Amino acid sequence: MSGKIKKAVLPVAGLGTRFLPATKAVPKEMLTIVDAPVVQYVVDEARAAGIEHIVFVTGRNKHVIEDHFDIAYELEETLRVRKKDAALKDLQATRPKAGTTSFTRQQEPLGLGHAVWCARDLIGSEPFAVLLPDMLMKAPKGCLTQMVEAYKTHGGNIISVEEVPMDQTHNYGIIERGPVEQDDTFTIHGMVEKPAPGTAPSNLYINGRYILQPEIFDLLQKQGTGAGGEIQLTDAMQQLMQEQPFRGVEFKGTTYDCGSKAGFLAANIAYALDNEELAKEISPLLQKLMG
Ligand code: G1P
Repeated sequence: MSGKIKKAVLPVAGLGTRFLPATKAVPKEMLTIVDAPVVQYVVDEARAAGIEHIVFVTGRNKHVIEDHFDIAYELEETLRVRKKDAALKDLQATRPKAGTTSFTRQQEPLGLGHAVWCARDLIGSEPFAVLLPDMLMKAPKGCLTQMVEAYKTHGGNIISVEEVPMDQTHNYGIIERGPVEQDDTFTIHGMVEKPAPGTAPSNLYINGRYILQPEIFDLLQKQGTGAGGEIQLTDAMQQLMQEQPFRGVEFKGTTYDCGSKAGFLAANIAYALDNEELAKEISPLLQKLMG
């Protein structure tokens, strides 16, 4: 039995250059999927998994993320006066309680490992989750909830993975796994960040959800640059694996990589089709467009 995972880190410092000019003044995490920003879905996933405090690792021009998760006093008051109770309730449900979010800046774009390391003082010496907000994970039971269940049984470090076509492994962190056990989890024996084509140890990629022990911070502190000249979280995890167990969970659901235009558009369609009213309107339109 292991203690509760209470804190999560969301690295949101990326520039979003793939979505320019949309992301010139609006952070990529604030682009909308149907009617909520991408980052809202990921915060909801974390809260549904029992996370009590979220540490956002931000950068310049990201302050609207902080505003989004704050109270919008005039807006809430106006809804109250106009008796728009349902809208008010929905709006309030998206907002974490006061004191349960923290914001720190990455300052320099040195990589994902460096971004996570920037949260070290705010996390302290307890295990924590990391959720990459580019990755939208759609499932009846959230991805982090699936991982927390595995953590309750096994403790240690838990990584979510999924299959990817072999010719795309060079875009991701790829793991080497042991046999799948009764509860669908498996030991991870190794991992490599963005392996050169033809060298990947499997077709299982790290899909952006992690439960990590705090010892990772000391390793990140010393971690040199890896793939792409950046400080890689995968490299520090590979080191931690020499001392601590790492277990994998294959995510049961659909992942949309909202860092790519195709993934972002697909997520919008998938979430829109989930909404009965919207589905009625857009299904015929989609069919017409598809000829
Ligand atoms: C990061 C991680 C990589 C992971 C990927 C998932 O890479 O370093 O291990 O597979 O996210 O999206 P990035 O997308 O930042 O290059």
